[in-house]
Amino acid sequence: MSKLVILTGLRANNDLHLGNYLGALLPMIDMAKKHAGEYQINLFVPDLHSFTTPINHDNFQASIMDNLRVFIAAGLPLNNPDVHIYRQSYVPAHSELAWILNCFAGFGELSRMTEFKDKSARLGIDHIGVGQFDYPCLMAADILLYRAAYVPVGEDQRQHIEFTRTIGARLNSKFGKLFEVPKSMAETHKFFGADQGLRVRDLLDPTKKMSKSDESGKGVIFLTDSPEAARKKVLSATTDSVGLVNHDYKNQPGISNLIDILKYFGEDTKVFMGQSQYGPLKERAANVIADFLENFQASVKQVDDVHLLNKLESSEIAMNKAANSTLLRVQQAVGLRPKN
Ligand code: TRP
Repeated sequence: MSKLVILTGLRANNDLHLGNYLGALLPMIDMAKKHAGEYQINLFVPDLHSFTTPINHDNFQASIMDNLRVFIAAGLPLNNPDVHIYRQSYVPAHSELAWILNCFAGFGELSRMTEFKDKSARLGIDHIGVGQFDYPCLMAADILLYRAAYVPVGEDQRQHIEFTRTIGARLNSKFGKLFEVPKSMAETHKFFGADQGLRVRDLLDPTKKMSKSDESGKGVIFLTDSPEAARKKVLSATTDSVGLVNHDYKNQPGISNLIDILKYFGEDTKVFMGQSQYGPLKERAANVIADFLENFQASVKQVDDVHLLNKLESSEIAMNKAANSTLLRVQQAVGLRPKN
């Protein structure tokens, strides 16, 4: 366990879209390929985090596996011994450390987390779960158990990373050095440089990011959309009345979004620049996205489940070993276990 660890969570919900794919999945997979060898890469499914807000529990097991297949189809390397892929709930030390961290976290500091404040304002205090309140302690446990140095996450997770650093340092100063405190978001951004992926916009309202919370779903290309349905969505994408194809997010966000998506798929977009018709650009984008979905969905179907399950099992054995060794040090420090 001498290599520095890069660690991040893989979503378990079954509603991944093109924005997740180009903006998060591909960059994460590139990161894993690029840094494995020099670093240990821990990629895990935070399954216990998934029901901090209500979900369909009947489908949950299937959606965890479906999502893992999506990651594999997108290129996540299964055979690299430095890449570990595991499920949080298969490593019970996560929950145990989360409980201990709970007892050193302040009610006030957890109440001030933006995600908790937003969701409790929306749902009301009687409908928000304690799990949502406590979410950051479990997330801190996910990170601190493995002495992770870099935790690449989206901007919405900044406060949780800061909380992890705070509570890690708090226990270190009380009990001696128990944890490696992860690097700040700023240091992590510096380390990963420009590999931050594409911020895909909603097709109907291109001033917004593509997001699953879009109610109609018409501006969002889900990875499970049929190629034909996706084609239609792209052809009805909102554009503008400028009348010339330009890359200009300020005045022509819809057109710029389509140009960037095409570029990301390796298309040459120079031919479209300056054209007075938007049709050909939209047509090309619709075809490229439909072809992508067709091929991608075929690759998802071809994922070898036995191979995937073997990888999960071997990673989970290794992760239990690593996590339990950190947990034991913590248990000894707080007096739950005798010191050697
Ligand atoms: N909270 C993260 C998200 O919503 C998921 C997550 C849980 C995570 N535990 C983590 C990410 C630990 C990084 C490290 O995206």
